[in-house]
Amino acid sequence: MLKRKARCFEPEYIEPIFPLRVRILAALPGGIARLKKMVPPPNGDAAPDISRFIPLKEGVTPEGVAYIQSCMLVDSDLAKNLYVPIMRQNRSLALQQGMCKQTIDAGIDIINRCADNTLSVEEMVDAGLITCNHTVALRLKSGRLLLYDPQRITHTMKAWIERLGGEVAYIVSPNPAHCLFTQSAMQAFPRAKLVASQQAADKMADLGISTAYNYSNPDRLNALWQDLVDEGVIPNVLAGDPAQIILLYHEKTRTLLEADLSYRDAFAPPKGLITPLMKRKVEIADTTFSKAWRACVCEVSPNRCSPVYRFASFNEKSILCQLAKPHPEYVVDREAMKISLGLLLKLPINRVLSAHQGEIDPQRWADAVLAEFAWL
Ligand SMILES: [Fe+2]
Repeated sequence: MLKRKARCFEPEYIEPIFPLRVRILAALPGGIARLKKMVPPPNGDAAPDISRFIPLKEGVTPEGVAYIQSCMLVDSDLAKNLYVPIMRQNRSLALQQGMCKQTIDAGIDIINRCADNTLSVEEMVDAGLITCNHTVALRLKSGRLLLYDPQRITHTMKAWIERLGGEVAYIVSPNPAHCLFTQSAMQAFPRAKLVASQQAADKMADLGISTAYNYSNPDRLNALWQDLVDEGVIPNVLAGDPAQIILLYHEKTRTLLEADLSYRDAFAPPKGLITPLMKRKVEIADTTFSKAWRACVCEVSPNRCSPVYRFASFNEKSILCQLAKPHPEYVVDREAMKISLGLLLKLPINRVLSAHQGEIDPQRWADAVLAEFAWL
């Protein structure tokens, strides 16, 4: 596995150009910790609920794993601090690669307006400034439930979980970026134990929520492993990966749960019905923004398919890497991640449930992962 070689590159050359104040602060002693503290606590509930435009959609895999699809608007802070600078920075490169100037400029304009909070909810939905997410409810051997990547706890979502039956025993925030609704999930199911990365645990601590299993800590990951193995679930955190994703393997159904490992279908259209309120752009993947995002964020990267910030996060000297690392001593290690991924791909997998893409055929998923990480 992972034998294909991408063209040679040095990740050092791809550091997003952050605003000057961020670069100055990052260079000061203790600046990275201060930058991390400046990020506001995650609160997905503050963003508008768009389920009236795109209703929640329940699903069950052929192996019997239940999940529910919901969509949310692109976060304006993420747009301002990551998408806008990267898209501006890579505009010329994308043009050199033959991308249409009109599409790129229109895409950058729309993400700029998202960053400035000048778009209405309908305009954002129409422009495809949404991501689809899948909350998975894994049935444990004890009959209890584990929620992987819970999204907004609407009445529909709560009723779906209650209909499934069984106590919610674990709530899993699958990576540092996926904790917008962790607080509300913990409030809805206060007896659940929280599983989260160091960064998500820090954010939750600021909100008064304690994390039972901080999986960035090897001892706590081991404790989680021991508790979940008895429940038929194997946790997996890729060694050396700055993205700190926890993947879960459900033995009985041979299902792998993942969040943000593969980005092949980022901003893919939601599956299922879209209400008449969302009048024009139903094919989210074909929106101008989505095309421009792929051109300026993915197609300019060395393998032409992974987000360029995924490469920058492997450069220990970059601000992005230092912000992504769970703690300053954490060692980002491409070789360790390559070995770890190879072992993951050897698991007998019947189905992959991806946070953004939903159900994926395991071969299609493995092909995507190989294409995106052959450079390791
Ligand atoms: Fe994500």
